Amino acid sequence: MSFVILALALYMYPSPIDPKPFRFPSPIPKLTGPLEVNQLLQRTKRAFEGSIVGPESFAIDGNGTVYTGTADGKVVAIRNGQLTLVVLSVHTKNKVPLLGSYDYEPLCGRPKGMKVGPDGHLYLVDSYKGLFRINLQNKALETLIPSNIGVNNVPFKFLNGLDISSQGIVYFTDSSLTWDRRNFRYEVLETHNEGRLLQYNISSGQSKCLLSDLYLANGVALAPEEHMLLISEMSVSRIRRYFLTGEKAGTSDVLIDNLPGYPDNIKLNSRGNFYIGMGSVRFQGSSPIGPFLDLVGPYPILKRAIAKITPFVFYNLFLPKHALVIEINTSGDLVGSMHDPCAKVIGAVSEAFETNDTIYIGHFQSTYVGVLEKSSISNTF
Ligand SMILES: *[C@@H]1O[C@H](CO)[C@@H](O)[C@H](O)[C@H]1NC(C)=O
Ligand SMILES: *[C@@H]1O[C@H](CO)[C@@H](O)[C@H](O)[C@H]1NC(C)=O
Ligand SMILES: *[C@@H]1O[C@H](CO)[C@@H](O)[C@H](O)[C@H]1NC(C)=O
Ligand SMILES: *[C@@H]1O[C@H](CO)[C@@H](O)[C@H](O)[C@H]1NC(C)=O
Repeated sequence: MSFVILALALYMYPSPIDPKPFRFPSPIPKLTGPLEVNQLLQRTKRAFEGSIVGPESFAIDGNGTVYTGTADGKVVAIRNGQLTLVVLSVHTKNKVPLLGSYDYEPLCGRPKGMKVGPDGHLYLVDSYKGLFRINLQNKALETLIPSNIGVNNVPFKFLNGLDISSQGIVYFTDSSLTWDRRNFRYEVLETHNEGRLLQYNISSGQSKCLLSDLYLANGVALAPEEHMLLISEMSVSRIRRYFLTGEKAGTSDVLIDNLPGYPDNIKLNSRGNFYIGMGSVRFQGSSPIGPFLDLVGPYPILKRAIAKITPFVFYNLFLPKHALVIEINTSGDLVGSMHDPCAKVIGAVSEAFETNDTIYIGHFQSTYVGVLEKSSISNTF
């Protein structure tokens, strides 16, 4: 009897989300071939442990200085093993509690995708506040598109990835129309396709929307010849490709789906391939009952109920302990992977960013910068 009342109460209680069904492709990927398990990510060193939170995405300037953004709204520089502040908060000059907590995150701002443009300035998106440019000589910060303006009269909600062409076209993603960054788990569970791929022309200041209806549009990266873009559709474990030139210009298709995880940032590497960080994993054996989203995906009623009763902190407890970076080539074929099978050193990966001698491993919740010296893994390539 009490069970019936409880079930009824749960049913009547409003859910924060209005999910859609989604069926993941099958079979669930196996870790074989290019995905074979190794311990390469365990060779990562943790730098600046305890003095940084959430370095997710990286950029490098012509002098070899590396930049990243933090969970408490800072943009910092890494040079000669030192961490220095570039900009305190992307959009507020006032000091706010620098905790990057759920409540303060929209106030502090959350720098995400970034890259140094052909003009030598650092371009970045703040998840909450818009598209920005930092003059690296004098640290002056300029707003290019504030979130309330957005693109095509649609304000930004959850800005995420960014890349820039040699011609000075900035490509960036907005992940959702409904949920902001701190509520990304709801966007994942709802599995709506509300993401957008946007562009900003540095010389004209004009912006436009290239693609809409994307599933949690996350990382974005140009191919080496700049004829196409790759976009992560994180909530549905696939990479979409958008053609910039040629016969198919302006159209898109799925480059690779059924990935062994949920793809976050995409970065071109020195082999002309792409490193893709997996925010979490889904493969055969990744969790005892099977990958969570594969199980609940087709059932909106189940997803609605889960969102009612699960506090945010709990979701992390159910994530499999396995860090993974995959490498795909421009044909969309898997060509390699790097693992930390028990998440001994690295919990999960938002981005793997290669420089001349180092692969920086970032994650939006990590308390260190992952530094993987290429010399420590060179015998494996
Ligand atoms: C990285 O390597 C390239 C090619 O060898 C070189 O031109 C560039 O100066 C190097 N960058 C740094 C920061 O050392
Ligand atoms: C790079 O180094 C040059 C020469 O030292 C300097 O003039 C320039 O300001 C530096 N650029 C940045 C972005 O720090
Ligand atoms: C960017 O703007 C410049 C200057 O207006 C223009 O010449 C160029 O064609 C634009 N590029 C794109 C891709 O729209
Ligand atoms: C991508 O990798 C596959 C499998 O190794 C290979 O057959 C294909 O030629 C590669 N494509 C490119 C453009 O390198």
